[in-house]
Amino acid sequence: SGAMAEERALTMVTCTAPVNIAVIKYWGKRDNDLILPINSSLSVTLHQDQLKTTTTAAASRDFTEDRLWLNGEEADVGHPRLQACLREVRRLARKRRGGSAEDAAPLSLSYKIHIATENNFPTAAGLASSAAGYACLVSALARLYGVEGELSEVARRGSGSACRSMLGGFVQWQRGERPDGRDSLAHQVAPETHWPELRVLVLVVSGEKKQVGSTAGMQTSVDTSPLLKHRAEVVVPERMALMMRHIGERDFEGFGQLTMQDSNQFHATCLDTFPPIFYLNDLSRHIIALAHRFNTHHGRTKVAYTFDAGPNAVIFTLADTVAEFVEVVRRSFPPATNGDQFVRGLPVGSASLPEELLTAVVMEPVPGAVRYILHTKPGPGPQFVDDPSQHLLGADGLPRRCT
Ligand code: DP6
Repeated sequence: SGAMAEERALTMVTCTAPVNIAVIKYWGKRDNDLILPINSSLSVTLHQDQLKTTTTAAASRDFTEDRLWLNGEEADVGHPRLQACLREVRRLARKRRGGSAEDAAPLSLSYKIHIATENNFPTAAGLASSAAGYACLVSALARLYGVEGELSEVARRGSGSACRSMLGGFVQWQRGERPDGRDSLAHQVAPETHWPELRVLVLVVSGEKKQVGSTAGMQTSVDTSPLLKHRAEVVVPERMALMMRHIGERDFEGFGQLTMQDSNQFHATCLDTFPPIFYLNDLSRHIIALAHRFNTHHGRTKVAYTFDAGPNAVIFTLADTVAEFVEVVRRSFPPATNGDQFVRGLPVGSASLPEELLTAVVMEPVPGAVRYILHTKPGPGPQFVDDPSQHLLGADGLPRRCT
């Protein structure tokens, strides 16, 4: 009937997906096309109330070409990694439908698609967005085509770290052994509810974009760094087991120390790369020293830093330490502008710092070096958005609002 035909003319779904931050880092591929890593890695999924990507995917027999919009701007759909994700989701859909008539299927695989995606955080802040982006794309496409189950393998084809954003809480990406990558998957180690006191502070720093992208950087590291080879073969397998134990026991000191050590070793492999890659700068080293002075003053590990392939610092701590450490950061990096909110995200209580802590921990302040602090915590994996008013595409299949 006409009504039926109209109803089926446009199918649309919207998903959100989280950012994750690795505490045992992924750095190096053994297969560039399939995105298979040289070592396993482990991450914490961050809460989507503070950091998320939203993606709407629509299919219609009326669309004449595949189209993509990133934060309101039309972008190239031809990107090989995006095409790989699309191809894999469609392959799973075909497999799932098996012999069943195409007619009975939720959606024709031959329809062109429109995809719109946006972040609830400024892209310019340099926060890992490809992981959330690909996790969100794959979640939305899977929903659109009625595919369920193991999807981390598909998200991995978009960006290695994206496979870990397919799950909430504490997530490991097992390197796997097979050449075809079927066993290179993400698994949840513990849900976000496992460690309710754990908090995350993202120190968004002022300054330049990253010099060398992860994909190119890790390739040079694989080709030239003997330290990276040793790390992948010997160090990471031991650390994965240890980190899972610390998480299981909610041992913050063990978790925090290993997180810092693994971040430091990742950056050591960058220095061991030839020519060397530098992601840490003077400000990163300043923050590292600050964290160690803070911990030394307290006589135990109360905060732990980790840095990826960019200048922002991510701090893990427990809820009871947030207010004090935020005050230490505020004193160390006095905000440049008064009006701008320096602390964003989850509320932070006020703390007055004892004189002896100030003297021992806060050294020469660097005004304006930290733009703002984002306070967040571990959170769940990708979510479906049921409210149609949240779709990023209108009934005509074009972006609703531009940013
Ligand atoms: C330093 O996942 O961005 O953040 O697989 O080439 O897309 P590709 O690389 P990507 O690398 C992330 C590297 C890292 C560490 C980590 O997240 O484990």
